[in-house]
Amino acid sequence: MSKDDVLSAAARRNMFLSPDALEIIMSNSDPEAFAQTVLSSLANNPIFVTKEDVIQFLEGDKSIIPPVKTFDPQNKRDLEIKVMEGTDISGNSTCVGDIDDFLRYFQNRFAVLKRILERRSDFGRAKQIKECRTKYDIECKIIGIVNEKRITSNGHIILNIEDDGGGRDSNCTVFISKDNEFYNEIIVSDMVLGFKGVFSKPKQGESKGMFIAREVFKPGVPPKAWKPSDSHSVLAFLSDVHIGSYTFLEKNWQKMIKYLKDNSESMNINYIVLPGDVVDGIGIFPGQEEELNIKDIYDQYKTLAEYLKDVPDHIQMVIHPGNHDACRPAEPQPSLNKAFTQNFDSNVMMTANPVYLNIEGRVVLTYHGRSIDDWVAGVQQLTYDDPLQVMVEMVNARHLAPIYGQKTALAPEKKDYMAMGIVPDIFVSGHVHGYGYKEYRGVRLINASTWQNQTEYQKQHNFNPVPGIMPLVHLGTGAVTMKNFMKD
Ligand SMILES: [Fe+2]
Ligand SMILES: [Fe+2]
Repeated sequence: MSKDDVLSAAARRNMFLSPDALEIIMSNSDPEAFAQTVLSSLANNPIFVTKEDVIQFLEGDKSIIPPVKTFDPQNKRDLEIKVMEGTDISGNSTCVGDIDDFLRYFQNRFAVLKRILERRSDFGRAKQIKECRTKYDIECKIIGIVNEKRITSNGHIILNIEDDGGGRDSNCTVFISKDNEFYNEIIVSDMVLGFKGVFSKPKQGESKGMFIAREVFKPGVPPKAWKPSDSHSVLAFLSDVHIGSYTFLEKNWQKMIKYLKDNSESMNINYIVLPGDVVDGIGIFPGQEEELNIKDIYDQYKTLAEYLKDVPDHIQMVIHPGNHDACRPAEPQPSLNKAFTQNFDSNVMMTANPVYLNIEGRVVLTYHGRSIDDWVAGVQQLTYDDPLQVMVEMVNARHLAPIYGQKTALAPEKKDYMAMGIVPDIFVSGHVHGYGYKEYRGVRLINASTWQNQTEYQKQHNFNPVPGIMPLVHLGTGAVTMKNFMKD
């Protein structure tokens, strides 16, 4: 990779490298992978990346490995991954998908996100639309779910929103001027937003006035710092393994296994989460059978179970489905059926997608990431090259998959499992076969690579994976590093 390639990779992330930072990157044996890792891992997401930033990153990389003397195997036996109560749909699915189910589902989404919005100190309690729609020109606060967004011929935003007031008066039109400071906020359909502003008087011939928004509020998360704990454990991620695909990276996987065998005890790598697409599945896209070397879905899971037997026994693992797995496509997806999981050892736990885990006191939200497709398709500023920015928007919206009716099928369960009711310490996704790390308001966002190389289908669709990388998070210090197994 030339200097120009590194500089353009940085520019794509809106970053600029100082000459000495560039020099350090170019001195690495694999400048391309190193540049990608450094740029995606800088915690404060700077515009200008200095030599000091790169050096700090390298020091952080070292700090992921705690001193060996703290290793205490006796202690570890008491430490188990816990699924956080009420966050796993497995065994709790009740929906049949009728109108009542959908009504209740969206009411729950609204209620959860309204509660979060009203806890914002800069927003507070809102009124129902029907309470304030005739109090013209008096500032009020309302909350609504976005039914529709359009842009006027003059470039202003018009939203149609609805709240929980019931009846005809529970919806209204919200106007956001193109000069409003919130104009560029990313707004997608079916997200829940708060607004401060005023209702205008109805124009002649119209029955309702318009809400003129002065400020727009997303549920969001308050800024939080990572509080170091005395945990010595490291949590690793292996996303999108795609067993059964003819481009599964066997050689690099074996390198990773050897690394775990050699280092996991001394480094205290005690947990691994596999966030979906653990197998390639069958019939996922047209002509997929041409790209499979294991064509039987049971054999794919059986093979994965065999591969995972090589992982040192002290490591607890969690597997949840993704869109390639043998599971209902509608999210939340329950854990894999026993028919597929009987060959796995007892250190492998099966959960739903998404799910919240408590690992040594850290809250880990793991979601495969199917909805990234819909975020990218619906929002011009979001791209597959930067899945972390999509994850930032999920955190702001406090919802993993707000957009209804696109690629991500949503199951209308009694409660909205896709809403982020709890603020996680670590939020991981996969699906896009990219990778990266970013800290956002104290939440460590990780996109966790893949173990499948580019397939013919992906080539035709201009999909360029970044495979063979295992993200590692130290649960005590919060240090994050990316271990790349693509290098020789
Ligand atoms: Fe995948
Ligand atoms: Fe996927």
